[in-house]
Amino acid sequence: MSEITRDVAIVGAGAAGLTAANDLRKAGLSVVVLEARERVGGRLWTEEIDGAMLELGGQWVSPDQHALIETLADLGLETYERYRDGDSVYVGPNGEARRFRGEMFPVAPETERVIDEITERLDAMVAEIDPDRPWAHERAAEWDAISWDAWLRQQTDDDEAVRNLAFATGSAMLTKPTHSFSLLQSLLMAASAGSYSHLVDADFILDKRVVGGLQQVPLRLAERLGEDVLLNQPVRTIEYTDAGAVLRTDEVTVRARRVVLAVAPVLYNRITFVPPLPRLKHQMHQHFSMGFVIKVHAVYDRPFWREQGLSGTAFSPYELSHEAYDNTNHEDERGTLVAFVSDRTADDLFRLSADERRERILESLSHYYGPQAKEPIVYYESDWGSEEWTRGAYAASFDLGGLTRYGADQLELVDPLHVACSDLAGLGYQHVDGAIRMGHRVADEILAAERA
Ligand code: FDA
Repeated sequence: MSEITRDVAIVGAGAAGLTAANDLRKAGLSVVVLEARERVGGRLWTEEIDGAMLELGGQWVSPDQHALIETLADLGLETYERYRDGDSVYVGPNGEARRFRGEMFPVAPETERVIDEITERLDAMVAEIDPDRPWAHERAAEWDAISWDAWLRQQTDDDEAVRNLAFATGSAMLTKPTHSFSLLQSLLMAASAGSYSHLVDADFILDKRVVGGLQQVPLRLAERLGEDVLLNQPVRTIEYTDAGAVLRTDEVTVRARRVVLAVAPVLYNRITFVPPLPRLKHQMHQHFSMGFVIKVHAVYDRPFWREQGLSGTAFSPYELSHEAYDNTNHEDERGTLVAFVSDRTADDLFRLSADERRERILESLSHYYGPQAKEPIVYYESDWGSEEWTRGAYAASFDLGGLTRYGADQLELVDPLHVACSDLAGLGYQHVDGAIRMGHRVADEILAAERA
């Protein structure tokens, strides 16, 4: 058992923890980062699978993600655009695949009018939401008491319009069934990206990728910290007083004046706190839960859909895979599709054998791209639900009513313990941008506390 003393101990080497550690180090404090896994990056993970470079976790960068864009520039990382030339595909309720351009799905004119009208209403509501304080809106309690699905169904009885509006923050973002989270949670998701229209605009929200993969952000941030990042060190206990804390892993004891918990909030309860956390925190942390999505990677000898004039972008609230994109790597001759299967559908698929699951998913892709989609040369499913140190994807959110009940308290733990994670962010909520913003924020908070 080795012993280390530092000014600040950071639990978790994801984007949030490593950003905080670098800021604190720059400000002259000594730090150590304790990471449970054998790698840094958390939900950012690039792996070579059967000869293909795949981004198993987060990958896209959008133009409003200024904190992430700044970090990319600071680390000297280059970006490239997602391929988007040609027609997108939409599969409607009758199973027919239809090509379209732009943001509006090729639905009947009346359904289009309803979608436009409700989108306008949502944009106006989102414009009034402060992503850092959604609970402060005068109608927050009312909007947090109704599910996203129920609110949409109050606006119209056009089922196709509801499904298309619902999945932008449902299957595609919070990755939970739309009856299980509130309208307010949905508005927060949209406000964190600037507007509801931004969220449904794939060209905006899924704009760029990083050459070599987004995991390079945590890898390079960790490189700057050198030996102050310790891998394979799950933190088991934290004993704390006003004066400081003692953290224990199976191999290391760290004494620090301050601690940053830079882990998903659903994982706080994996750590034994002595004394136990205050009542409100015990309660609050039970109302966060992870969404669940399978990220499917299918690599082909060439991007065959481009030959048919298809961009690779495909959507359908009626398909097993509700969205899919051209995910071909920078300067790669092979073509890669990435597809997503979310919430209840993902649960159901994991009850099947791996072969059946693969067959069902590729069948769904063939509805968008034709029979060639069934013959990838590399096929892989990112299953974050099985990852002990994440337990779902993409991130954690409050259940119905949780935002107004607990949101205002989520960024405070108890002195000298601090928190940082994408799942607690306002701008960049549930995204790498939010993780970085939270990392900077917690470093500022600690520096202010140290000066006091
Ligand atoms: P993160 O979970 O990454 O880091 C926490 C770290 O703490 C982990 O390394 C974990 O191992 C460690 N840890 C946990 N418990 C511990 C303990 N007790 N002791 C020590 N260490 C412990 N975002 C985006 O911007 N664009 C995108 O395209 C996507 N797409 C996407 C796809 C998929 C499949 C996923 C899973 C996620 C995304 N995201 C995304 C979300 C994005 O990846 C995510 O929001 C951030 O990477 C989270 O960074 P954090 O540092 O907040 O947590």
